[in-house]
Amino acid sequence: MKVIPETVAIIMDGNGRWAKAKGLPRTAGHKKGADTVRTVALEANRLGIKKLILYAFSTENWKRPEDEISYLCKLPGIFFNSYIKDLMKNNIRVTFAGELERFPEDTQKTIRKAVEQTAHNTGLELCIAINYGSRREMILAAQKYAQEVADGKRANDLTEEEFSSYLFIPEEVDLLIRTSGEERISNFLLWQIAYSELIFDPTPWPDFDEASLNEALEVFAARDRRFGGLK
Ligand code: FPP
Repeated sequence: MKVIPETVAIIMDGNGRWAKAKGLPRTAGHKKGADTVRTVALEANRLGIKKLILYAFSTENWKRPEDEISYLCKLPGIFFNSYIKDLMKNNIRVTFAGELERFPEDTQKTIRKAVEQTAHNTGLELCIAINYGSRREMILAAQKYAQEVADGKRANDLTEEEFSSYLFIPEEVDLLIRTSGEERISNFLLWQIAYSELIFDPTPWPDFDEASLNEALEVFAARDRRFGGLK
């Protein structure tokens, strides 16, 4: 039987290049990319993956032109309006990771509503990383921990497992996929991917589909994971 990873993370790259190649505005790539989120989440759920973490907006994406940022802020609304019914029907639970506060009120509301509406679902956890940066996540965790020590709430005896619990995303990632051929991590889940298998797929995110995910899972299943030990 094929080994299915518990936690899969995806850097959804290539929306802009996909659109450009078709003579379309970059936003058309993001729109199609949101449809891919539905496709991949449903397949991940069907396969029994426990948690799927998608990098939707990084702390560095604020450097993009204003009109693109404004579209990216509207995307959660477009996505959940179209697909919340499918997520509910498939028992998928939505969570998010990142500092939501920097987004416009209505974007925040849309995301919080999707989280609430799906909170009791027991299938796949679909975690949207939004205004997420791994270094920022670690700084926030360190500050929270330091504050607890200063307040006398706990001793200065932090373990690796405990540090994880201060992060937005406490799980170890089993498999990290980046689409569109770039081979870098771009400040995503630096702590959580310590022993991840990494797969760089040349497919641009808008064209990534069920078959692409299954292909990545085949490669994952064939990898020899030793976690620093010996077989
Ligand atoms: C990277 O492609 C992609 C993004 C910055 C946005 C990703 C967001 C989505 C696919 C949709 C999010 C969905 C929900 C549910 C909120 P790029 O623009 O960097 O592409 P390029 O490298 O080709 O320019």
